[in-house]
Amino acid sequence: MSFRLVVLVSGSGTNLQALLDAAADDAFGATVVAVGADRAGIEGLARAERAGVPTFVERVDDHPDRESWDESLAERIAEHKPDLVVSAGFMKILGARVLGAFPVVNTHPALLPAFPGAHAVRDALAYGVRVTGCTVHLVDAGVDTGPVIAQETVAVREGDDEESLHERIKGVERGLLVETVGRMAREGWTVTGRAVRLGPGRAAGEAAQGPTPGRTTK
Ligand code: GRF
Repeated sequence: MSFRLVVLVSGSGTNLQALLDAAADDAFGATVVAVGADRAGIEGLARAERAGVPTFVERVDDHPDRESWDESLAERIAEHKPDLVVSAGFMKILGARVLGAFPVVNTHPALLPAFPGAHAVRDALAYGVRVTGCTVHLVDAGVDTGPVIAQETVAVREGDDEESLHERIKGVERGLLVETVGRMAREGWTVTGRAVRLGPGRAAGEAAQGPTPGRTTK
C-alpha cells in the first residue's frame, strides 16, 4: 500500500504538479490521494482534477472563526487518511486541529530562519542578500518555525526582481520537495529536538524505526 499524501494549495500548484508527476512512477512510493485548497477556481485545483485526484475547498470566510475552519479542514483531510500532509504554496496558517492530527511539511521560498512569512522572496531582495533558496520543513504552531528537513541555495543575480528570483527558486524548490517527500515516504523519519533525520538509521540512544514511517519527538 502506497504512502498517502494530501496536498494543500492556494495558487498555481506547480509544486503539486511536481508531486503528481513524481507519483506517477510507483518507485516514488507515495500517492497524492487528495488536494485541498482555501479558495476555489485556482490552477492548483485544476491540476488535481486533470490528474483525476479528488479535491476539496475549505474557505475561512465560510466559518465564524479560524477554530471552526481549522476543525472542518482537519475533518476534510482526515477523510483521505493521509500519512503526510504537504502544504505546497498553501497561504494560510494551519491550526491546532490539523497539526495535532497529521504530520505536515511545508515548502518555503527562502533559507529559514531567514525571511519567514508570506513575502519571503521580496524580503530577501529588499535585504540585499546574495544567496537565498528554499526550505522544506515540518510545520509547528509558529509561522515557518518548524524543524528544517532540507534546504537548497539559489544565487541572487544582478537585475533580479521578485518574479524572476521566485521563478528560479521554484525551479529548485520543486525538486527539493519531491526528493524530500519521496524519502519520507520510502524511508521514514525521526525528529529529535529540532533535528529531523530521514531514513531508518539509528542514532546513539535512539530506538530504531521500523519499516513504517513515523515520528519520534523527544
Ligand atoms: C512556492 O514558492 C511556495 O514556497 C510559496 O508559494 C509558491 C507556490 O508555488 N509559498 P506553486 O503554487 O506551487 O506554483
